[in-house]
Amino acid sequence: MPTETEADAPLDAIPPAVRAALQRELAIALPQPQWRIEPLAPGRPVYRVRIGGAAHVVKQSDHPARVAAVASVFAARGIAAVKVRRLIDDWLCLDDLALPTVEQRLSRGIRVDDLKDWMPGLGAAAAQADLVGMRDRNLRNLLVIDGGRFIHIDYEGGFSAGMFDRLARPGRYARYLLRRLFFDVIDAAGAADPAAKDEMFDRFAGGLAEEQRRLSPHGADGSAGAIGWKERLYLRSRMRDTPRTRRLFRRAFEAQRLGSAGTPAEPHDER
Ligand SMILES: Nc1ncnc2c1ncn2[C@@H]1O[C@H](COP(=O)(O)OP(=O)(O)OP(=O)(O)O)[C@@H](O)[C@H]1O
Ligand SMILES: [Mg+2]
Repeated sequence: MPTETEADAPLDAIPPAVRAALQRELAIALPQPQWRIEPLAPGRPVYRVRIGGAAHVVKQSDHPARVAAVASVFAARGIAAVKVRRLIDDWLCLDDLALPTVEQRLSRGIRVDDLKDWMPGLGAAAAQADLVGMRDRNLRNLLVIDGGRFIHIDYEGGFSAGMFDRLARPGRYARYLLRRLFFDVIDAAGAADPAAKDEMFDRFAGGLAEEQRRLSPHGADGSAGAIGWKERLYLRSRMRDTPRTRRLFRRAFEAQRLGSAGTPAEPHDER
């Protein structure tokens, strides 16, 4: 059995069969690897695991099929994505990207000019989330790469912004993404000046449009890999809709720019 050293969480936080699968998957053949298990989300089974000199994130997922679908769509379309491996049951192993979340980065403080430089990348992240109808886009589910580039993590919320709801209430999801990926970031950074917000939105919208243009030549079936017919249909509807989506974002901005508090919480967005 592996031995436990300096563990922040007990070794058996991760069941033995999952640990065995992880060791197999990573081809770690050390007779007595040293394990260190650090909880990443209090109360939830998400751990940073250091084993045999490597670091990985091991997570029990509520929706492993959605995670696989998002990871395969992102990989097929050249969107920076976390590599995900299925262990056993609903346990996943992700590459540890060793990057701060937007929340962690902002907690150190940010200058307004640097925040402006973030905007095209946040717009691109909105285009990527829109493509797969991804919820749970809070400030802990986006990592900061550098120079205003971002990478989504936590793909459980993928393909959960319902297709029919989007047809019936087309502005709702744009409002949601704008709140999470634009206003929440600005609010957390403490940048409240309305004129600066207008400029920031123009940059955000530019990044959104550019990423949509980059993604659209792939068409609906550019996504190799394990996605089902519903996901394929979803992607197809998103690819047709991009100019309309951009208009919806602008309309959502106009409606929200003067105040930012008070947008109602969305269903499926509690995690
Ligand atoms: N691949 C990764 N690389 C680096 N850090 C990660 C990675 N995956 C998760 N983390 C870190 O662990 C935290 C929790 O992971 P994740 O968001 O996947 O779990 P969760 O159960 O959905 O948690 P939450 O409720 O906070 O969203 C993230 O906010 C991030 O700080
Ligand atoms: Mg999360």
